[in-house]
Amino acid sequence: MTTTERPLALVTGASSGIGYAMAAMSTRGTGKILFTSSVAALTPGPFEAVYAASKAFLHSFAEALRNELKDSGVTVTSLLPRPTDTEFFERAGKEDTRVGSGKKDDPAEVARQGFDALMKGDDKVVAGSFVNKVQGVAGRITPDTAKAAMHRRMAEPGKGGTSPAGDE
Ligand SMILES: NC(=O)c1ccc[n+]([C@@H]2O[C@H](COP(=O)([O-])OP(=O)(O)OC[C@H]3O[C@@H](n4cnc5c(N)ncnc54)[C@H](OP(=O)(O)O)[C@@H]3O)[C@@H](O)[C@H]2O)c1
Repeated sequence: MTTTERPLALVTGASSGIGYAMAAMSTRGTGKILFTSSVAALTPGPFEAVYAASKAFLHSFAEALRNELKDSGVTVTSLLPRPTDTEFFERAGKEDTRVGSGKKDDPAEVARQGFDALMKGDDKVVAGSFVNKVQGVAGRITPDTAKAAMHRRMAEPGKGGTSPAGDE
C-alpha cells in the first residue's frame, strides 16, 4: 500500500470492522472501545494531508459512536497522542522533518493515559506532557490557516534538526 492508501484503509477498516464488536458489546450491555486518533486530527496537515484527515475522521467517528451508544453501557474513547517516541517517523520516512527529529513523548506514558481514559469512559484524551496539553488547549482558539502554517513548518521534508516537537 502507498502512504496515501494506508490512512484511507484505516478509515474504511475502522468504520466497517467496528460494527461487529459494537453490536456484541451493546447486546451484552457493557464494553469499552478506544480509537487511536492523533492531535493531527485537530489541525490541517500539510505534507501529511491524508494522514491528518484520516485521524480527523477517526476522532469524529469515535465521538459520534459514543453519542449513539450513550444508553447502551458501551463507552467510546478517542486517544489523541502528540509526537511519541515510536518507530512511526522512521517507518513513514519522516525523520528529516522538524517533528521527526524533535523531542517526543514516552510511549509508555501515552499508553497509560489512553488506558486510564478508556477505563474512566472519557470521551477523549490529549496524551502527553503537561506542556503538550497546554498547547492542545491553545490550539482550540488558533485559526485553521495559522495551524496549517505551523504544521507545515513541522512536517516539511528536509527541515529537521532544530525545533521542538509539534503536531503529529
Ligand atoms: N508516534 C506518534 O508520534 C503518533 C502520534 C499520534 C498518533 N499516533 C498513532 O498511534 C498509532 C500507533 O503508531 P506508533 O507510533 O506505535 O507507530 P509504529 O511504532 O510504527 O507502530 C505501528 C504498529 O502498528 C502495527 N501495524 C501496522 N500496520 C498494521 C496492519 N495493517 N495490521 C495490524 N497491525 C499493523 C505494527 O505492527 P508490526 O510491527 O507487526 O508491523 C506496529 O506494531 C497509529 O495509529 C498512529 O497514527 C502515533
